[in-house]
Amino acid sequence: MSNKLNSRHTNRYEVLIIGGGAAGLSLALNLPTNMQIAVISKDRETEGSTFYAQGGISAVLRGSDSFESHIEDTLNAGGGLCDEAAVKFTIENGPQAISWLSDLGVPFTTDKHKNGQKTWHLTREGGHSHRRVIHAADATGEALETTLINHVKHSENITLLEHHIAVDLITGKKLGLEHNRCIGAYVLDKKNLRVQTFQAKHVVLASGGASKVYLYTSNPDGSTGDGIAMATRAGCRVANMEFMQFHPTCLYHPKAKSFLLTEALRGEGGRLLLPDGSRFMHKFDKRAELAPRDIVARAIDHEMKRLGVDCLYLDISHKPAAFIRSHFPTIYAKCKEFGIDLTKEPVPVVPAAHYTCGGVMTNLHGQTDIENLYAIGETAFTGLHGANRMASNSLLECLVFARAAAKHITENENKHEWDAIKAWDESRVTNSDEEVVVSHNWDELRRFMWDYVGIVRTDKRLQRAKRRVDLLLLEIEEYYGNFRVTSDLLELRNLAVVADLIIRSAMQRKESRGLHYTLDYPKTNDVPENTILTP
Ligand code: FAD
Ligand code: SIN
Repeated sequence: MSNKLNSRHTNRYEVLIIGGGAAGLSLALNLPTNMQIAVISKDRETEGSTFYAQGGISAVLRGSDSFESHIEDTLNAGGGLCDEAAVKFTIENGPQAISWLSDLGVPFTTDKHKNGQKTWHLTREGGHSHRRVIHAADATGEALETTLINHVKHSENITLLEHHIAVDLITGKKLGLEHNRCIGAYVLDKKNLRVQTFQAKHVVLASGGASKVYLYTSNPDGSTGDGIAMATRAGCRVANMEFMQFHPTCLYHPKAKSFLLTEALRGEGGRLLLPDGSRFMHKFDKRAELAPRDIVARAIDHEMKRLGVDCLYLDISHKPAAFIRSHFPTIYAKCKEFGIDLTKEPVPVVPAAHYTCGGVMTNLHGQTDIENLYAIGETAFTGLHGANRMASNSLLECLVFARAAAKHITENENKHEWDAIKAWDESRVTNSDEEVVVSHNWDELRRFMWDYVGIVRTDKRLQRAKRRVDLLLLEIEEYYGNFRVTSDLLELRNLAVVADLIIRSAMQRKESRGLHYTLDYPKTNDVPENTILTP
């Protein structure tokens, strides 16, 4: 315990993990208990996409399924761009990841058989040719996050700091040193508004995705791409940022904040309907409602534009009410709040930004381009998802790469001396007198990203977005240089960097593939290539 207090006082840790979602917490729990570890989260400790995950985690868990089949489905969904080694590595480590979670006590839903035996209930989602998604009803993320947090809280060697937002990474290069290792991060304590220095032998970015760059998103407010932006500023390569995934079915209601309606609803028989009650998905893909997400989201977008309507409908009311209520209790209750009865009527749906397939480039150990800096989870680009992530492969990636990075950190002790780091300098900045600049730019950015860099793109739309983001980047940097940092300003600064990465990547891709669809280049090139941006 004294060790823990000492580390806290000096802010020196062996491992600093930026992000307390599935990726960050799993990494912390996979490290040896004699290592001093800090996990920081910028909001309250459970907040992040993980908590809101619904459908579940994909893994090969039945004899009737196989690694080959899961690999093939993932490659098919990924539109020719998946890295086969990353796909194989992730999928073959899936069963181990699930048994680790089960041992930790995650309450996965089971089926009780006539002989009294219980087996895990596996659901289906788009692109999967087998039932292989393990889940805790329709609130898998909440069960996962709270279980992991609970274990972290009982670990003497792990310090969990909520309401701490990383501002930027500290590297040798930034300090003018001879090496360019990552040696820590500047972190704003949101409660006292002081920027502290955190030093670490290993730094891990586990800070989630960037879907908040769009006006409508299934993600919580903190998905502002901080890790991707910080890594870019530090000099890491990022890849495939044009592949932003739109989830086909979010609840359409002015007060629902794009609440997700899990793909498992379609996996269990849910149908997509036009306003006249007719089905349409079979016209777009023979897998109909269970086609991969890029196809379903684009089909919905197409039909909404064709008919000039604000939403389409998802209907599972033909299934027994008891089944719906027991498998989808969270969604049932949420719809009820808005006066919709899932067991009796179709639910209005629209697509919304959901997942960042690209990210900070890493290898199979989670290592980035900078020594001692790792990236895992949605922040990372491992090559698993290609041009379109298959449902429920994300949590799996978080778990598998967290373990791989933990192993690499454990086996590669950093024996370098601690460097001297300058404290954060606030001597030349003042408090902002015009917070409206931040809120205005937040709104503007997210709106033009939605309008110009959404599900269907064109060169002209991308050029419009690029002109606007260039201006915002300038304004925000000027503002950042003159005023004391706040959480909103940091997030806006990161969102603008990420928006720029998405637009530039989209402009480079002169074809339509997976999630990137452009009217100017509707064909898919013969040779698939990643879009790699080097700072
Ligand atoms: P997150 O869980 O998003 O956690 C990010 C963490 O980083 C948070 O603790 C946050 O506070 C912290 N952070 C961010 N920036 C900073 C900073 N600057 N300083 C300090 N801390 C920071 N995937 C599936 O596989 N199956 C599903 O069923 C599923 N359902 C989903 C449902 C919803 C509604 C959403 C939004 C996503 C869903 N996904 C699902 C995707 C999946 O949940 C995410 O990709 C995954 O949880 C990401 O985990 P993560 O640990 O990388 O990041
Ligand atoms: C869902 O439950 O539909 C989301 C699953 C995912 O994003 O993988």
